[in-house]
Amino acid sequence: MSRIAVYPGSFDPPTNGHCDIIKRSSKLFDCVIVTVAVNPAKKHFFSVDERVDMLQEIVSEYKNIEVDQFDGLLVEYAEKKGAVSIIRGLRALSDFEYEFELALMNRHLNSSVDTIFMMTDEHYSFIRSSLVREVARLGGDISDKVPRVVEKYLKERFF
Ligand code: COA
Repeated sequence: MSRIAVYPGSFDPPTNGHCDIIKRSSKLFDCVIVTVAVNPAKKHFFSVDERVDMLQEIVSEYKNIEVDQFDGLLVEYAEKKGAVSIIRGLRALSDFEYEFELALMNRHLNSSVDTIFMMTDEHYSFIRSSLVREVARLGGDISDKVPRVVEKYLKERFF
């Protein structure tokens, strides 16, 4: 039986922190589905298609990672995909409370899908998508914070 996990997020845009979690989870599961949450109520910088495109390029080096998108409840999506785990990255204590609530709510909704937290590499603990967008907008160097494809998308958007 193959062990499938989903790694959900907004990925607006994906950062090296996300890539680190993707790389490490690829070693733990037979298949990881990196999936973009579609939430029409939330205003995003990049479209869903753009975020999926960026992720597809990022995961192209891994044989056991797929990219997808979903709307509706995450646990329902995970169950439909046959996933046993939801992967989330933890960067700092400040992430914990929100992630704890999310994980408990998801367990309450469906106890057969477990949330696995992965500690981020300390090099990426200060990176978040909104900060990366801000630095890129102001012309700062983001080359060591995002994959090359994301840098290209940000440069095209801002300059
Ligand atoms: N490295 C770097 N940055 C990271 C990171 C990591 N390892 N992990 C998270 N982040 C950052 C992101 O860059 C993002 O930064 P931003 O706030 O500046 O944009 C932030 O942390 C959170 O982003 P993300 O991981 O994409 O999560 P999210 O909070 O946007 O997504 C969902 C949360 C999609 C998983 C959640 O809303 C969900 O499950 N939605 C589906 C609906 C549902 O089922 N709701 C009930 C759930 S209880």
